[in-house]
Amino acid sequence: MSNANQEPQSELIVTITVNGSKTGEIIPARTLLSEYVREHLYLTGTHRGCETAKCGACTVLLDGKAVKSCNVLAAQANGRNVTTVEGLDDHGKLSPVQQSFWDNHGMQCGYCTPGFVIASTALLNENPNPTIDEIRFGLAGNICRCTGYTKIIESVQDAAHRINKGS
Ligand code: FES
Ligand code: FES
Repeated sequence: MSNANQEPQSELIVTITVNGSKTGEIIPARTLLSEYVREHLYLTGTHRGCETAKCGACTVLLDGKAVKSCNVLAAQANGRNVTTVEGLDDHGKLSPVQQSFWDNHGMQCGYCTPGFVIASTALLNENPNPTIDEIRFGLAGNICRCTGYTKIIESVQDAAHRINKGS
């Protein structure tokens, strides 16, 4: 229901390259990046958990860096490159991180998994040979309530191994 005392939200045009494709939309200025990818582009692999920048389920890459998309305005991504979990595969071939999570059972319910896969991708891009402590530190912004984290860490170690041997 509209509220007569409510200020109308201003709108703006954003142009964001998402998973290699240029997108352009007129959106309310306060649209979050998580809303933009899910509700405007229907890329629902980016999950929303807490919506307060705590759980990491909404993690995407912004110009290659992992960000919590519930904590970034779509306007802040204007003119930049965003990668969601849907953009990691190579024409249907899972990325090394995706394949490793699959092979090592790095998920149970899977709700946190897109965020972990994106955060792990960013971690391994910056540090292809992380120690277990570096993996724990690198993924500290992502929460999983199911796995106990052991399988996730094993998945990241396996992904590092695959990346370093070029498979
Ligand atoms: S939904 Fe963004 S961090 Fe939880
Ligand atoms: S697999 Fe269920 S929350 Fe992580």
